[in-house]
Amino acid sequence: MARLRTAVLISGRGSNMQALIEECNRSNSAAEIALVISNTNDAPGLSLAAEFGLNYDVIDHTDFPNREQFEEALTNRLMLSGVEFVCLAGFMRILTKKFVDRWYNKLINIHPSLLPAYPGLYTHERAISDDTKFAGCTVHYVRVGVDSGPIIIQTAIPILVNDTPETLASRVLEEEHKCYAFALREIALGNIYVEDEKVQFNGVLQPQRGVANPDSSTNTSDETGT
Ligand code: GRF
Repeated sequence: MARLRTAVLISGRGSNMQALIEECNRSNSAAEIALVISNTNDAPGLSLAAEFGLNYDVIDHTDFPNREQFEEALTNRLMLSGVEFVCLAGFMRILTKKFVDRWYNKLINIHPSLLPAYPGLYTHERAISDDTKFAGCTVHYVRVGVDSGPIIIQTAIPILVNDTPETLASRVLEEEHKCYAFALREIALGNIYVEDEKVQFNGVLQPQRGVANPDSSTNTSDETGT
């Protein structure tokens, strides 16, 4: 069976890109990474793509007079490589309606918060400063508007009392990698689709239980508090 020709768009480190590559390197994967594009030539993720032997390219947004022309170059490059599906992985450009419409339901993003909470930057700083009890990550289809669109998968993790933005970011990142691999895998298998702007699943398990932070199951014995 032909595998889903997928591109990953990056601007930086590329750890989510690597999670997607590793997912596609599984022998039974229904997706393949056909192309990696960065909008900056110093993105560390580019050397990672090279190490994995992938096709990669730089399309520098500063070479274009406006967003539309930059995006036109992106789409042309994606089409040249026969790309059918696009994953944004730390891609730091806001996309116009034209690009989003061109790749409608074929464009997904990963964000390090439980959307719709904390779209944009500095998610972990903001969650800690608001004293919220859970952080997490979201993979979603892309719509116009920063970090918006139908949600595919989220993982929540507790924010610990001593968490800093850095410690929290690194625990969330581990979950990001799992969520992004899951999303691409299930989309490529045809198990995920969008209907009336909601994501639908075929044969995908849903958990029944919640998790509390602090853990409400502790200290319930009569002997405490004496
Ligand atoms: C990740 O936290 C992702 O959720 C956000 O940008 C970061 C990119 O990290 N959109 P990496 O380049 O994938 O390591």
